[in-house]
Amino acid sequence: MRPFPQSRKQNPSPLVLDPKIIGTKAAYQLLIGSIVPRPIAMVSTQSSQGIGNLAPFSFFNGVSSNPPAIMISVARNSDGSKKDTLKNIETTKEFVVNSVGEWLVDAVDQTSAPHPHGIDEMKMAGLTALPSQRVKPMRIAEAMIHFECRAIHLYEIGDGTPGSSTIVIGEILLFHVDPSVYREGKILLEPLHAISRLAGKSYGRISEVFDPPPPQT
Ligand SMILES: Cc1cc2nc3c(=O)[nH]c(=O)nc-3n(C[C@H](O)[C@H](O)[C@H](O)COP(=O)(O)O)c2cc1C
Repeated sequence: MRPFPQSRKQNPSPLVLDPKIIGTKAAYQLLIGSIVPRPIAMVSTQSSQGIGNLAPFSFFNGVSSNPPAIMISVARNSDGSKKDTLKNIETTKEFVVNSVGEWLVDAVDQTSAPHPHGIDEMKMAGLTALPSQRVKPMRIAEAMIHFECRAIHLYEIGDGTPGSSTIVIGEILLFHVDPSVYREGKILLEPLHAISRLAGKSYGRISEVFDPPPPQT
């Protein structure tokens, strides 16, 4: 295993950065560079008028298994307005998390651009919509795993100015798992071809996996 770098042992004094002094943009850069790799959720929602929406979120994680629940964090747009994903979840409480295999990377980038309300982002990205069973938002056929979710908590972080966010906690009402990534109750890593978000506009693949020796007791 890789040893702790000698240079850090010799010079252990870190840069100390106060978010109130460096500001929102610099804090964002520190977050997205430090928290790597980040999983990506392609989140489909629907407005109360039935207009579908799709967008990627990498401030995403699992938070509970009883009930099974996940979180995404939806930041405000640069003008302080709410993103369509958040508006739809606030109104309908429903969304679907679609897993992201490497073949979806172009769709992730395309659907992250600001599109006018009413554009069918699934179609625009060349994706195939599949109906869900417990919620109205559609699933992406090209995703191996779908979580049909109902929002159970919304937490505001910040005062609603750019950079502040809403954390959405969603209870998973139904899992859909492609049989090719499933064996004996477990998800197979290889056929998932999961990608992650890194800093800037970069993505990562899982190219090496290792198991450290078990802890000594
Ligand atoms: C890989 C990736 C990850 C992203 N993660 C987030 C995120 O965690 N939170 C967020 O607010 N925006 C995130 N974005 C930006 C949103 O996808 C983007 O603002 C999108 O236009 C929102 O769409 P909407 O207005 O239809 O909800 C991400 C973009 C990319 C490409």
